[in-house]
Amino acid sequence: MSEERFAGKFDKREIDTKVREGIPFHHRWHNAFHFEMPFGLVNDPNGLSWFAGKYHIFFQWNPLGVEHKHKCWGHVETEDFVHYSLPELALWPSDVHDKDGCYSGAGFVEGDVLHLVYTCNRKEDGRRISAQRLASWQPEKGIAAKDEIIIEHEPQGYTAHFRDPSRFVKDGREFLVLGSQTEAEKGRAVLYEKKEGAWHFAGELKTELSDFGYMWECPTLLPLAEGDVLLFSPQGLPAGDYRWQNLYQSGYVAGRLDVDALEFQHGAFHELDRGFDFYAPQAFLHEGRAILFGWMGMPEREEEYPTAEEGWLFSLTMPRELRLQDGRLFSAPLEEMKAFRKGAPQKFGAVHAEEIGQMLAEKAEIELSLVLGDAQEAHIDIVYAEAGEYLRFSYDRRCAVMTLDRTAMKLGGRGMRRFRLAVRDTLKLHIYRDKTAIEVFFQDGEEAASFFVFPTKETASQLVVSADRKLEKIEGKAWELGGFEWKER
Ligand code: FRU
Repeated sequence: MSEERFAGKFDKREIDTKVREGIPFHHRWHNAFHFEMPFGLVNDPNGLSWFAGKYHIFFQWNPLGVEHKHKCWGHVETEDFVHYSLPELALWPSDVHDKDGCYSGAGFVEGDVLHLVYTCNRKEDGRRISAQRLASWQPEKGIAAKDEIIIEHEPQGYTAHFRDPSRFVKDGREFLVLGSQTEAEKGRAVLYEKKEGAWHFAGELKTELSDFGYMWECPTLLPLAEGDVLLFSPQGLPAGDYRWQNLYQSGYVAGRLDVDALEFQHGAFHELDRGFDFYAPQAFLHEGRAILFGWMGMPEREEEYPTAEEGWLFSLTMPRELRLQDGRLFSAPLEEMKAFRKGAPQKFGAVHAEEIGQMLAEKAEIELSLVLGDAQEAHIDIVYAEAGEYLRFSYDRRCAVMTLDRTAMKLGGRGMRRFRLAVRDTLKLHIYRDKTAIEVFFQDGEEAASFFVFPTKETASQLVVSADRKLEKIEGKAWELGGFEWKER
């Protein structure tokens, strides 16, 4: 019955054709090296994997509108993170199990098959039912074939907020980790282990975070050589002066996972990104690299994104490489991002200066280092002069606090974000400025921030560095960047 009910809603051929008509993009707000769709709503990266010589990037996508509804998976593939296949519809609600959404999940390769594992979302009389299912990628057809349901419902003691499976192997044993909520409404990660071909509930992952939000979404377990890392997106943490300032957070704990005891000994929870628009990241391992994509967006904040009126919402971040060092994850743009550079950089700088300016290309990468000298406060602004708008990063050395300030922008989300950042004498920013998506890496990747700005008109922009006293030295390099190249799969 439900096959029929949904047959007409998601027509792969029709949707794929409409995507082809919308790419390359024309609207001035569409980004060039941040993945997004010509229409619909994009959210979490899903199924990240390397298979048959290519990276595969799936993502949550509502192809039918800009609301959080009709969740499907879209797909693109790339060999180099510059040339991408035209995105296609890969997985969509088609039967009783996933009729209310093919929710987030992961990918893993076994032999010559790329397996996907995802949450089937279904509502019956207002009641949520979350089942976990396998699917296998069919490269010739560009769709994921649905396989069996492997977990029919949540384990006892948990609510139906039970989703986002991701697979890992530790000590030769195979596990799924899932985001969940206890009946007492506490966020948790739970584990299933594969034994004799079937997945069995192993138990809750024991951590020190027993009262840490009401739901954990999108967990990923990364067994790295330097230690184990659990990435997850907790909901319900109260905002503080220097932390947890978005509606929902994304971060990690690092330490050692004991799979016999299901115990994770770990250090403090750290946020992965301090920007306004970052949530539900996913990472995977390939050839010694831990590669992460985040969703650039925030649930329940759709009114902050003016592109909705143009028919699309949200992007993915650039791919980042994660490195674990002394219990902290450092993130850096993937090496491949250098291929977007057009020619040699423009160098700029000054010694003993209070202010300098540098014109920026509309797609630009900037490496900036400021030797603070006597200055206590430094500002780095991106100024959209003709629109009378600017974006500001302010560093206050007295309290070691970085502030991101979007209050001088007229459209979209505004406000500020603050976080602590230790700087001895040199403040370093690595800025990627796409048409509306901005990503910044601070102090060689100790912190990162992703967010959008929507200038009211097409205008040239300038980078302006200023300080309360003379900066000892300003050194900068700015590249003009290109964007994705699209091709047939
Ligand atoms: C995170 C999330 C996931 C869920 C998906 C649905 O943004 O809420 O927990 O699987 O989005 O689109």
